[in-house]
Formats: sequence, C-alpha cells, structure tokens
Amino acid sequence: MLKVDQLDVFYGNIHALKGVSLDVKEGEIVTLIGANGAGKSTLLKTLSGLLKPKSGTIQYLNHAIAGKPAQEIVKAGISHVPEGRRVFSNMTVEENLELGAFLRKDSKEIQSDIQKVYQTFPRLLERRKQLSGTLSGGEQQMLAMGRAIMARPKLLLLDEPSMGLAPLMVKTIFEIIEEINRGGTTILLVEQNAHMALSVANRAYVIETGRVIVSGTAAELKESEEIKNAYLGGH
Ligand SMILES: Nc1ncnc2c1ncn2[C@@H]1O[C@H](COP(=O)(O)OP(=O)(O)OP(=O)(O)O)[C@@H](O)[C@H]1O
Ligand SMILES: [Mg+2]
Repeated sequence: MLKVDQLDVFYGNIHALKGVSLDVKEGEIVTLIGANGAGKSTLLKTLSGLLKPKSGTIQYLNHAIAGKPAQEIVKAGISHVPEGRRVFSNMTVEENLELGAFLRKDSKEIQSDIQKVYQTFPRLLERRKQLSGTLSGGEQQMLAMGRAIMARPKLLLLDEPSMGLAPLMVKTIFEIIEEINRGGTTILLVEQNAHMALSVANRAYVIETGRVIVSGTAAELKESEEIKNAYLGGH
C-alpha cells in the first residue's frame, strides 16, 4: 500500500530524515518507534504532504505522492492525526467531526459516519455540543481520531496517540486503534509507548537520529535484547 524509498528531509541545514525506507501493506498496523527528535513526526508530515522531501520517493497505491499538496493526499485516502491532537478548540465536537469530511459531498453518509464515530467514542456523543478546547486530553485524542476517520481514510497516520494520557485511557485508545484496523483501515502508528505499540502492531521500525536502524515483526522486536534495553525499560 505504501512504499517509502530513500527519503531525505531537511529543515534548513538540519537533516531530519536520512535515507528512510519502509513499507506498509494493506490491512497492517505498522509502528514506528524512536526517541525524542528521531524524526518520527517529520516522516508522518512528509507522508501527508505537510513537508516536501529533498529526495526519495513515496509510492501509495502505485501513485507517486512525495511533495504532492496535502489536500490531494487526503483525497487519495491518507489521514493524519497530528501530535498534540490539534482540534479546533473554538468549535464544537460535532463541528470538528463535520470538518473531517470537508472533501466529501455525500451528506447522508457523512451524517451516518458521524453516528458511527459516536458509537466508537460514546464520550463524544455526550459532548457533541461542547467546545473542543474544553475537552480532556483523552477526549481530544478521541475527537482527533474521529475527525480523521470522517475522511474515510484507507491509511491512517497516528502520531503518539497515547501521549499524556492516563493508563486506562491509553488502554482505551489502543483498543480503538485495533477496532479501526479490524474495520479495514491500515495504520501507521508513531509511538513512544513501545510496549503498547508492539502489542497491537504486526511489524515495527525503529528510527534513531533520522535513520531506520532496526525493523522486523512486532514479535521479533519484543524479544530483541537491544530493543528491550533501549525502548522497553529492560523488560
Ligand atoms: N520546524 C522545524 N524546524 C527545524 N527543525 C525541526 C523542525 N521540526 C523538527 N525539527 C527537528 O527535526 C528533528 C526530528 O524532529 P521530529 O519532530 O520529527 O522528531 P520526533 O521523532 O517526532 O520526536 P518527538 O518524539 O519528540 O515528537 C529534531 O531534531 C527536530 O529538532
Ligand atoms: Mg514527534
């Protein structure tokens, strides 16, 4: 579904991604783990068209999408839930969900998809008229994910969905990630919570200072001494 080959991305002089290659197959959950500043968000931003790579290719469903405008990439079926959620705080929950569907014209189906989002996230239904800026962190994460789903993505990019959430909410968010995937959406998941990420993912890539240093199945990485020591607190 997605094939990234030898991607180089710069911010001015800062070489943030150095020859990154990876692939995601249809139906998979693939996780990208790595420390602060490794380049994880940079990769997702490049995939969704927010950053242009200096070189390298991105093939998505056999289309070359590197450097294409973000709105074309959303239209092609890639939705990005950015780090820190970025909901529109002065708009209600429901208005945020409606905005997620801004490229769609099928208003009946949009309404029925909003109801589906409420089934997945009952908290959002209770708060549908509430201003998004007043939601808790976990609720904002649910809203950001719900808004992304409203575009009916084939590939969902999630940037640290568990960041700053209490353990129970982290568990809920990961359960929902698996549920979305069972519904047919392929997922590329950036996480610092390597334990949880490896427990839901099929495969994983480890990124360090802009390079992929290890990749394998989630099961292989969970057993690797190097990964255990560096990312799993030794367990
Ligand atoms: N707008 C920017 N201008 C300059 N440098 C940037 C910019 N955004 C990111 N960087 C740099 O690029 C590198 C990769 O950043 P990135 O945000 O991709 O890391 P990350 O792996 O997502 O880290 P974190 O886990 O802390 O979110 C870092 O060294 C960062 O300082
Ligand atoms: Mg980041």
